[in-house]
Amino acid sequence: MSDKGITILGIESSCDDTSAAIIRDEMILSNVVAGQKVHEEYGGVVPELASRAHQQNIIPVVDLAIKRAGINRSDIDAVAFTRGPGLLGSLLVGTSFAKGFSLSMNIPLIEVNHLQGHVLALYIRENGQEYNPPKFPFLCLLVSGGNSQIILVRDFLDMEVIGQTIDDAAGEAFDKCAKVMGLPYPGGPHVDRLAKEGDPIRFEFSRPRIPGLDYSFSGLKTNFLYFLRDHLKENDNFIEENKADLCASLQHTIIEILMSKLKRAAKETGIKEITVAGGVSANSGLRNALKENAGKYRWNLVIPKFEYTMDNAAMIAITGYYKYLNKEFIGQDTVPFARTQL
Ligand code: KG4
Repeated sequence: MSDKGITILGIESSCDDTSAAIIRDEMILSNVVAGQKVHEEYGGVVPELASRAHQQNIIPVVDLAIKRAGINRSDIDAVAFTRGPGLLGSLLVGTSFAKGFSLSMNIPLIEVNHLQGHVLALYIRENGQEYNPPKFPFLCLLVSGGNSQIILVRDFLDMEVIGQTIDDAAGEAFDKCAKVMGLPYPGGPHVDRLAKEGDPIRFEFSRPRIPGLDYSFSGLKTNFLYFLRDHLKENDNFIEENKADLCASLQHTIIEILMSKLKRAAKETGIKEITVAGGVSANSGLRNALKENAGKYRWNLVIPKFEYTMDNAAMIAITGYYKYLNKEFIGQDTVPFARTQL
């Protein structure tokens, strides 16, 4: 460790973004994300193509992250990587790179759970920016393409999932329904954009009746599909003529499902410190609903900056930093996990 602080290189390769970031203590020095356009024409991520693209991207992305941070490789104290959950082939690229980097630089290797990374993204500091991270304990609504969870966060490395989806994730519901409307992948941002011009209560879609704090989105997806199929039988242009209202009503339903369990979790735990993370937290309707409820129930709401809600290595680096302080290192025999719990 130099007297400048602890410098961590973070590597993220769990799905279709290759990312590398440098963090010094909690301060972000660089965060480079290379997306993969190759999947667009397939309407979803093709795992084999994702791993190949990661292999091509990883070295230039890490190189750029180090350059943008204005540091030397020898300034890095440890390398943190996403061990899971995610696509196994994609995770293997980041894991292998991190192992090689740790071995060649003779620095510790730190494994990071991707979901924990999403939560701890709330603690990233930016030069010259206000810093208001949440106070423990808090609840985090983690909503992404692969996960929908309510997490009770007691400390940096002490988290418990108290509710989660039993089938599809909220992001999947956005993406799959968008796909049947002919919108490009990923559909979430397109639904968000079109919803702004539509009527959120024009169409009513089904809401699950799942006990406790768990979620379910597969029923809504099927309901949406059958609803379109029935209307298309009578009018070939039904989707085109009603796209904004369809998007607004779909988004409204997803948000209501998400918010109902979050409100329940806040009530049951008595926690008023509320945060959100994951790609779907970029949704403008969800952000508005969170703000409205924060006013109503006196929550202290912490919403992360947009660029740290999507998959990125800055969140892996900050988690690596807290694990470094705890000396939670891992050996060279580590392997990635496609499915892991918090
Ligand atoms: O966390 P994330 O980047 O990675 C995965 O877990 O894959 O989340 C991606 C998900 C996708 O399902 C995408 O459609 C959704 O986040 N998403 C949105 C919006 N922006 C991204 N969903 C709704 N509204 C948005 N504005």
